[in-house]
Amino acid sequence: MLKDFKYALVTGGSSGIGKEFALELCRRGLKVIVTGRDTKRLEELTEMAKDISDSSILTYTVELSSTDNVKAFIQDVSKYEIDLLINNAGFGLYGEFIELDLEEIEKMIEVNIKALTMLSHTFAKKMVERKRGGIINVASVAGHIPLPYFNAYAATKAYVYNLSIALWAELKKYNVHVMCVSPGPTETRFFERAFKGQNFKTFGNLMSPTQVALGAIEAFEKRKVVYIPGFKNKFVSFIGKKLLPDRTIAKFLAG
Ligand SMILES: NC(=O)c1ccc[n+]([C@@H]2O[C@H](COP(=O)([O-])OP(=O)(O)OC[C@H]3O[C@@H](n4cnc5c(N)ncnc54)[C@H](OP(=O)(O)O)[C@@H]3O)[C@@H](O)[C@H]2O)c1
Repeated sequence: MLKDFKYALVTGGSSGIGKEFALELCRRGLKVIVTGRDTKRLEELTEMAKDISDSSILTYTVELSSTDNVKAFIQDVSKYEIDLLINNAGFGLYGEFIELDLEEIEKMIEVNIKALTMLSHTFAKKMVERKRGGIINVASVAGHIPLPYFNAYAATKAYVYNLSIALWAELKKYNVHVMCVSPGPTETRFFERAFKGQNFKTFGNLMSPTQVALGAIEAFEKRKVVYIPGFKNKFVSFIGKKLLPDRTIAKFLAG
């Protein structure tokens, strides 16, 4: 599938899982458009990509919590035939719901849900016209269960999970494949950010962002609909979705 694709757009490619997605797509010869906010990291990524292949990498500095910025960005990149959209940018907030900063929660919803929805809507339409394309949405195993203290974050990822599967069912007749990736704890800047630099727990062994991104690309090539990297994460999802009632899990995890 990927060999027929021209451009890929990866949001949040300046670090972590998104960066690994971008580098792997370069290795596979796609032209890759990457967003991030940290210009220095985006420049470093461009340099790394140059060592991999001649295929160009285009970087855009975009704050995705601003609807106006997302609209302007969409207009800027609409000239490219984006065959693969990877909605990866996102962040989490850890803490008791009433103690979290409401403005931060709103920003998280803007990035994790609204920007993802706007990008998916715009580019899915174009893919359908071309009868070719794919979307990979990065959710989280947290989106498969109600998760106290990752309350609103987990809920944004439940949206991503459900939207992805609905879009898979709607768009398959147009040869547009939608897949949801639900990673568990992964070694990126995610936890440091979610815990705002305080002492943070990482919930067991972390997977590497490379493992997650490469596994996701392989799963996408096999037209999987939901990809959960790692046995432990698959097990958590199984318990959450099939074995125990939501309230039991939430009460247990709330401690
Ligand atoms: N790491 C985990 O344990 C884990 C587990 C499950 C799911 N996930 C999901 O995986 C995805 C990638 O996260 P990661 O783990 O790779 O973390 P990361 O290293 O912190 O990377 C997050 C990326 O998203 C971008 N981003 C964050 N907030 C943004 C904003 N307001 N506007 C624009 N870009 C923004 C960041 O850009 P800058 O760095 O340039 O600001 C960065 O490129 C996220 O959707 C996350 O929810 C992560």
